[in-house]
Amino acid sequence: MGKVHVLDHPLIQHKLTYIRDKNTGTKEFRELVDEVAMLMAFEITRDLPLQEITTETPVMEATTKVLAGKKIGLIPILRAGLGMVDGMLSLIPAARVGHVGLYRDPESLQPVEYYIKLPSDISERELIVLDPMLATGGSANDAIHSLKKRGAKQIRLMCLIAAPEGVKKIQEEHPDVDVYLAALDEKLDDHGYIVPGLGDAGDRLYGTK
Ligand code: URA
Repeated sequence: MGKVHVLDHPLIQHKLTYIRDKNTGTKEFRELVDEVAMLMAFEITRDLPLQEITTETPVMEATTKVLAGKKIGLIPILRAGLGMVDGMLSLIPAARVGHVGLYRDPESLQPVEYYIKLPSDISERELIVLDPMLATGGSANDAIHSLKKRGAKQIRLMCLIAAPEGVKKIQEEHPDVDVYLAALDEKLDDHGYIVPGLGDAGDRLYGTK
């Protein structure tokens, strides 16, 4: 079963409090999501493999470490996932970015991909799927299925806040996918909002209603 990592660094928790606050306006909300995504990028990359190289310092020749060429792909789920991309790229600037947009057909209940554009070599990349809110887990589940159908082999899911229902869905459907969160909240309400959550992440990021 995929592991759930709650990245409870004090800076992440502090900033998340202001992200949750209903009095935080669009500009500040966007900046805070960006900062938290950057801090989460630091944590989610902790286990990237390193390789040793030889470096000439001004003093002597030393054995040093660099990333072992692991290629990263960031996959924001449209639209709210876009709010996490820049923060991630500030620490992983060479990452490629693929986009997935989907909705459920109201009659067939099947996922419909209305937009999908991915790096050509997704099967060789460690993919990090980005979506701020893991509520029922429906979109993240569908997006991960879409990526696997196209050859993705290594996938992580990174969200700001999850409900236990969403985590359970991903663990059941994708036992190979680890989930990285800033917080695991209590539950979903009758309208599918995470409680206590932060409201609608897309609307708060983009100032829509
Ligand atoms: N999507 C959101 O943006 N917020 C929620 O609480 C649930 C789903």
